[in-house]
Amino acid sequence: MSLRDRWLLVSQPRTFAVRMRERHGDAVRMQFRGEVFVFAFTSAGARQVLSADPAGYDAFWKRGFTGLAGTGSLWVLDGEAHRRERQLLLPAFHGRSFRGYGDTIREVTRLQTSHWQPGQTVHTLQTTLAISLDVIMRLVFGAGDARDEEFAREGRAVLGALWREMHPLIVFFPELQQGWFPLWRRYASSKRRFAEWMSRYLAVRRARGADSDDVLGLMLAASYDDGSRMSDEDIRDELLTILLAGHETTATALAWALYELGRHPAVLETLRAELESADGTDPATVVKLPYLSAVCNETLRLHTLLSEVARVCSAPLELLGHRLQPGDSAVISVNAIHHDAELYPEPDQFIPQRFIDRSYTPFEFLPFGGGHRRCLGAALSDFEMRIALAEVVSHWDFEPARIDRDIRHDIAMGTKHGAPLRLKARRTPQPSLA
Ligand code: HEM
Repeated sequence: MSLRDRWLLVSQPRTFAVRMRERHGDAVRMQFRGEVFVFAFTSAGARQVLSADPAGYDAFWKRGFTGLAGTGSLWVLDGEAHRRERQLLLPAFHGRSFRGYGDTIREVTRLQTSHWQPGQTVHTLQTTLAISLDVIMRLVFGAGDARDEEFAREGRAVLGALWREMHPLIVFFPELQQGWFPLWRRYASSKRRFAEWMSRYLAVRRARGADSDDVLGLMLAASYDDGSRMSDEDIRDELLTILLAGHETTATALAWALYELGRHPAVLETLRAELESADGTDPATVVKLPYLSAVCNETLRLHTLLSEVARVCSAPLELLGHRLQPGDSAVISVNAIHHDAELYPEPDQFIPQRFIDRSYTPFEFLPFGGGHRRCLGAALSDFEMRIALAEVVSHWDFEPARIDRDIRHDIAMGTKHGAPLRLKARRTPQPSLA
């Protein structure tokens, strides 16, 4: 792979995917600095990679992610250690665990939009980042009630700084994770502040005992098959991973959903009609609404946030006619699949109805990846996006304030201008905050 192609892959992954597919067909083998990458551009390729035996794979981009999140992060664990850790964490991320949190997410959304005024232009991403961070603080870290207000305030500042310092250069060029590189020095310093805050907060939580059902509480109480518990370091690395993986992604998806609804008034009206015909006030009902779900799915398809899902082979693999050896990487271009015109006619258009008219297999629609490493936070993210979206749509009329587009932010893609919306009018008075 030429340096130019690598840069295109990093900066404009959708263009990279479309161009490579036109040039090379369903898959292409590329080499960069002696490493082999086979890119698969079709759902058949995704099926092959994601349904193969997990024992044949190691984690991808281990060096980069170890620097960012630590040696105990799910991102870098593989084999038995990865299976064991996921087994421990999965119950905390199961949809059932979040059911009771619908009202909390709605409250958080109300709080973060309470300062909005008709006529104002809002940087939507700023609001959705605040919503997503608040939800993580409460549901994952369990900080946010009166007892932990001080920790939560400090935590928000620490976590916000970490997010801001995660530059694509230190993600995609792990060789730059060195003390001489200013961007790395800044990230490393935020990571140290996070570790320090976390160790103080963990001490408080351990002293308090198992008294809450947030993700951290479940981690503190959980034990592995052999009865052992997670160490403080492992908990810290996993919470950092969850933050890096879940904060910006969910916020960006929510910002894009609002932006696309603003651009497509007919879609917005259909969604409102659905929300009004259902008992729009009950989060348990809201999350099951089909058109709302189609709007969220179409947003995640059109604005694919993680443009590739990859595995390093630890056993030989035959992928769409290319032979991979141990050490080679199989890369699924989620962007290419999400923009395949045979699966998604008019792929560059926002058409939620397509998710009503047909169903897609997990290899045709895969915003959260798949197989044994599928996103741990998919259920939480879906849940949050639906409730927050329903809340904003029910109370506000809005339209885009300017054209926006996808750009690389860090691991994930982001919005170039923060999905700015002009608030036209308040539809209903906002209920008072609890
Ligand atoms: C719209 C929001 C999100 C998107 C699009 C997204 C997407 C992804 C993708 C594509 C992967 C890689 C999957 C694979 O390799 O097959 C992943 C992994 C992961 N995600 Fe998410 N994610 C989102 C939100 C979240 C949230 C909210 C959390 C946690 C609260 C989270 C936690 C994780 C973790 C821990 C992993 C690593 C899983 C493993 O390696 O076993 N993500 N995510």
